[in-house]
Amino acid sequence: MQLCCNNGIDLLSVKKMGAGQCTGIDGAANFVEQAQELAALAGHPDMQFYCYNVYAIPETLTQRFDFLIVTVGVLNWMPDLPGFMAVCHRFLKSGGKLFIEDIHPLLNMYDETEAGPLLQYSYFNRAPFEDTSGLDYFTGEAYEATPNYWFQHTLADILQAALGQQLQLCWFEEVAENIGNYCAELQHVPANPPLGFVASWQKHEQTGECDD
Ligand SMILES: C[S@@+](CC[C@H](N)C(=O)[O-])C[C@H]1O[C@@H](n2cnc3c(N)ncnc32)[C@H](O)[C@@H]1O
Repeated sequence: MQLCCNNGIDLLSVKKMGAGQCTGIDGAANFVEQAQELAALAGHPDMQFYCYNVYAIPETLTQRFDFLIVTVGVLNWMPDLPGFMAVCHRFLKSGGKLFIEDIHPLLNMYDETEAGPLLQYSYFNRAPFEDTSGLDYFTGEAYEATPNYWFQHTLADILQAALGQQLQLCWFEEVAENIGNYCAELQHVPANPPLGFVASWQKHEQTGECDD
């Protein structure tokens, strides 16, 4: 399963690598429609795509999955990270694994300016960013949009949200490569900041809670 799968391209790659039943969920109806079209064109009409807000996936969707993937550009759209991890937990089978790759939270400190990335914001900022500039990911075309909100999370927020579901951390890696398009120039600066992270967690039905 992929949460916030956009047009399903990542999930289609996973399918082509040999995955069994694949299900994608995204909140944008036009992307879900495109995902269905792409899956059919690629010869995988059995892939399932649903249009739901991740925080309001109906209880009738009861399938449990061996793997759940969340790829770049998702966590910052989530106002409630513990709630998002609870959804991940809900859709995993016991023993199932969650994989997340996303931009490194350090990047939230930078603004993209004409002069290049500018270190401008507090790492610990809790107020949502409001943005009215729309961006077409594919053409790069900017347009005036209705307000959309972007939420900053620290690395600790991400790890704590998973811990709150008692998901066991199996892998955690910070990467210097640009895995999104935000402030891509930072890949070439001498300070060499981490630009992305990759992590995996496993769900166990029985896990002991930490004392403190
Ligand atoms: C930046 S895209 C990245 C998707 C994926 N990494 C990719 O490259 O195809 C983020 C996706 O999250 C979806 N999204 C954002 N908030 C959502 C929500 N609350 N429920 C479901 N989908 C959501 C958007 O519709 C969008 O397709």
